[in-house]
Amino acid sequence: MTANRSLLILPGDGIGPECMGQVRRVIDWMGEKRAVRFEVEEDLVGGAAIDAHGTPLTDATMDKALSADAVLLGAVGGPKWDDLPFEQKPERGLLRLRKDMELFANLRPAICFDALVSASTLKPEVVAGLDIMIVRELTGGVYFGEPRGIEDLGGGERRAVNTQVYTTSEIRRVAAVAFELARKRRNRVCSAEKANVMESGVLWRQEVDKLHEESYGDVELSHIYADNCAMQLVRNPKQFDVIVTDNLFGDILSDEAAMLTGSLGMLPSASLGATDETGRRKALYEPVHGSAPDITGQGKANPLACLLSYSMMLRYSFDLGAEADLIERAVEDVLEQGIRTADIVSEGTTEVSTEAKGDAVLAALDRLAG
Ligand code: IPM
Ligand code: MG
Repeated sequence: MTANRSLLILPGDGIGPECMGQVRRVIDWMGEKRAVRFEVEEDLVGGAAIDAHGTPLTDATMDKALSADAVLLGAVGGPKWDDLPFEQKPERGLLRLRKDMELFANLRPAICFDALVSASTLKPEVVAGLDIMIVRELTGGVYFGEPRGIEDLGGGERRAVNTQVYTTSEIRRVAAVAFELARKRRNRVCSAEKANVMESGVLWRQEVDKLHEESYGDVELSHIYADNCAMQLVRNPKQFDVIVTDNLFGDILSDEAAMLTGSLGMLPSASLGATDETGRRKALYEPVHGSAPDITGQGKANPLACLLSYSMMLRYSFDLGAEADLIERAVEDVLEQGIRTADIVSEGTTEVSTEAKGDAVLAALDRLAG
């Protein structure tokens, strides 16, 4: 098979390149053993791009991202770039990708693998069998709202402003993604906002209700205040199926959900745009974890969130469900063998390096593919 699928890889900063190195090995394995081939290009984002080009994302890289079938990203940021002016920080590269590719729906599945039940800080019975999907709005809200900025009021006084803003269509399109996903899962959507204190929350709730009545009456819908949602996620996370929420609440709730699964090092994500006339949708896949400067370069990083992001890519962008299943089974297999990076090591399991975990994944793939 020829490589008619194009993939842009942006390893980024910190542990991003280490994790992506292991994913590249699986990408090669898929090409060799399953004829799943990509036209792969690699480029810089975040601090790495700042060091090379003075900007966290060049226009040329942005163009490549816009024309690729899918983008796979590692992580951005680190202490080296912390003191840069806000508009030049590594994170702005990622935010520009999301905004310019119009990736409004961010899917963050929190699945607790059986082998990792004891790695969670919560009681086993609370997290065993957990499988929830957080759908985070990704191109609106306080992340991008205007006006924004810090102004000098004189006399040593300053004032900072950010704006939480949502329109009907922004709410409806992300809610539709949540309803569609729920239909393929356990058919329940819970929408989280702060309608008790924010007008944007009132509108969010009304528009979700309206869309539900119009088109998704078969899906069970509930509403929850975001603070209560945070509490319920640690009290009884299995009550949830799909949670849909705004950009900022989604950022926070998804980190919380990640820890239910044992480690931030396990959680992948997919960021999707609208489907065009040809049925194609822009997409970027990335682990939920950050660049983890504290462990960078020590071989301690867990490459599985990055690998599972690649498997989400196979599933959502290329309809290669069987290959995605294969990767997920290989991950489970490695965890069951007790082969662990530092973040999920526990009694009776063995701590291995990032590279050795990659070795174990490849060995599991060989075995499972027979
Ligand atoms: C995430 C991250 C980003 C965000 C940062 C790196 C800008 O925390 O993807 O959750 O806040 O969206
Ligand atoms: Mg975050």
